Amino acid sequence: MVAPQSIPVNAVRTDPSQPEYQALLAWPFAALPFYEGQVLRLLQNDIPHRVKYSSGLVWIYRNLAGDTVGFAALDVCQEYEQFTGGKYHFYIPLLAVHPAFQKRGHGRGIVEHLIAEAALLAQIPVDFSNLLFLDVYTANKGAISLYNKCGFVTLNPDAPIPDPQENNEEYVLMAKSVAVAPE
Ligand SMILES: CC(C)(COP(=O)(O)OP(=O)(O)OC[C@H]1O[C@@H](n2cnc3c(N)ncnc32)[C@H](O)[C@@H]1OP(=O)(O)O)[C@@H](O)C(=O)NCCC(=O)NCCS
Repeated sequence: MVAPQSIPVNAVRTDPSQPEYQALLAWPFAALPFYEGQVLRLLQNDIPHRVKYSSGLVWIYRNLAGDTVGFAALDVCQEYEQFTGGKYHFYIPLLAVHPAFQKRGHGRGIVEHLIAEAALLAQIPVDFSNLLFLDVYTANKGAISLYNKCGFVTLNPDAPIPDPQENNEEYVLMAKSVAVAPE
């Protein structure tokens, strides 16, 4: 199998107080049934909370022409500590590519950037797990395919979890080790 190409994206750190973050709230995810509610809820509540009270980091991504083509967040938390023996681990609350720029390899570039950032954080001499987690609706086949191609494995393929905030839409957990092999 030939690995899909990622397109270079320029990652720019931001935070919820910045105009470029607020502009994300107007992105047109409405065509994607339940994702609009989920994306807005995460942008308005979950991510600001992580930035303020946890270790949440947020980036927007620009293409070579300077268009903002995507955004993503990364946190260090204990959301899925049942898989890490209680240790803090890395977690991607959300990533998205603007609908006008999808299917060009930007999603892959963004996931690779988040994996690299988590791998850097994993080198800090603190007893973190080196697992990077995310959760994704089972209906979001495109995202699951992207995560599989980036090396994530589904932890509960036969036991998806209903999301009470989205009409019990089912989601699965995916994880990947970001440990850097010793030279
Ligand atoms: C999921 C998402 C980030 C993918 O971004 P993208 O820039 O279109 O993805 P890429 O172009 O980098 O695609 C890389 C791989 O992902 C998979 N993929 C991406 N979109 C897909 C789709 N709609 N259908 C099937 N596979 C898809 C493919 O395997 C693709 O590999 P290929 O190029 O060999 O076919 C984007 O569709 C998105 O932002 N969706 C809305 C928000 C969302 O669902 N975020 C994830 C929440 S967990």
